[in-house]
Amino acid sequence: MKIARFSRIGFILAAAGSAVGLGNIWKFPYITGENGGGAFVFVYLITVLMIGFTLMIAEMLIGYLGRSDSVSNFEKLAPRNKNLWKYGGFMSVAGLLIMIFYAPVIGWTFHFVFLSLSTLPSSVEIASEHFNTLVSMDITTQIFYHTLVFVFVTTVVTKGIKGGIEKLNFVLMPVLVVTMGGMFLYALSLSGFSKAWEFMFYPDWDKLNSAALVTAVGHAFFTLSLGMATILTYSASLPKDSNLVRSSLIVIALDTGIALVAGLTLFTFLYEYGATPSAGPGLVFISLPAVFYDMGALGHIFAFSFFVALASAGLTSAVSLVEPFIQYLVDRFGFSRLKASLSSGLFFYLFGIIAILSISKEYGAYFSFGSKSFFDWIDFITASVMLPVGGLVMSIFVGYVMEKERIASQLQRQLGRIYPLWYFSIRYIVPIALVVVILNLIGVLTL
Ligand code: TRP
Repeated sequence: MKIARFSRIGFILAAAGSAVGLGNIWKFPYITGENGGGAFVFVYLITVLMIGFTLMIAEMLIGYLGRSDSVSNFEKLAPRNKNLWKYGGFMSVAGLLIMIFYAPVIGWTFHFVFLSLSTLPSSVEIASEHFNTLVSMDITTQIFYHTLVFVFVTTVVTKGIKGGIEKLNFVLMPVLVVTMGGMFLYALSLSGFSKAWEFMFYPDWDKLNSAALVTAVGHAFFTLSLGMATILTYSASLPKDSNLVRSSLIVIALDTGIALVAGLTLFTFLYEYGATPSAGPGLVFISLPAVFYDMGALGHIFAFSFFVALASAGLTSAVSLVEPFIQYLVDRFGFSRLKASLSSGLFFYLFGIIAILSISKEYGAYFSFGSKSFFDWIDFITASVMLPVGGLVMSIFVGYVMEKERIASQLQRQLGRIYPLWYFSIRYIVPIALVVVILNLIGVLTL
């Protein structure tokens, strides 16, 4: 099927919009806080550079050369065993699974946008109570916002790559960059900034244990949207003669830049107002609103802008999470876009409600298995298991299965002198690192 392609800048914005998400502004600061700062940030940056960069180029290559949905691309590009390799493309379902918990969290950000227009919590205790009530008791509010997210995301993807996804990113990405940039400039003027800087960039190696290491590597994947066919699917709609290397570099620079800016800004605010950086997942929903309260009138404006930025970041990532499966349904089964969008949307909508119930006081027990709620299981299985496995499949596919000449003719010129280095990395460094992460995860290997 002929699909409308991205414009050059549209692709960059959409890929960056996918990468920059809740992962950057919500998750990165709190896992940095939990894992002791500097040393963790260092490992994350090294992983982004060594593994993320290599793999992003590989994933773009599969999409760009295949020009179709992920299953068809693996099938097309495998010189032999096409029937086996097409299963490589099934990672496109992972995005929908991520949406099961990602959509409810975007819903929380919607709630906080409205909250910042009325009353902010006047202390960390009140903020904590508010957030915990929302998450564990207020099912109606959560489902209400979850429904808004479902309607919004589904409407956008129904309009396609160009008319929906590209347009959305053209509007929301500038909102995000300007807001976060503005808040960062303000943070620069506060005395807490130097403490935040020190926390993020002065490594204390004693704090780096194996769990922190695996978290850093896992996060590098998650934040770059790698391993789940998002980048692959977007790249199938790249204009001809695109420079994959340059695009990867820009996307990675934007993603990393925004994560670091968000981290520095948040920690500055927290230090300035006497809160601690190790607050966990509640960091932006508990500590931050209380800090905004302390800032007075300016705090309301900041709170509103911040949660709008966070919601924007979430939404541009959300569309990228559902698009791979939609393209799969359209290309392989001849679904209309509308039908594909609606069925994918309903899938994450309904399971999303179960995820919401699974963390509630009232119904939690029915939807928890072992030590984890359904919500946490989905997070764990997708972000910690499927992502590294997806990355491993792609690195093996590009490193060992695809025809060498085909890869070289595409990338040799673009990568120039570092081409051999990239090829070495995709064949050895990336797969070995991923195998170590996976083995560590399933407990076979303890680092
Ligand atoms: N990168 C996004 C974030 O940081 C989330 C995301 C979007 C994602 N698409 C993805 C993660 C594909 C893994 C795979 O929030």
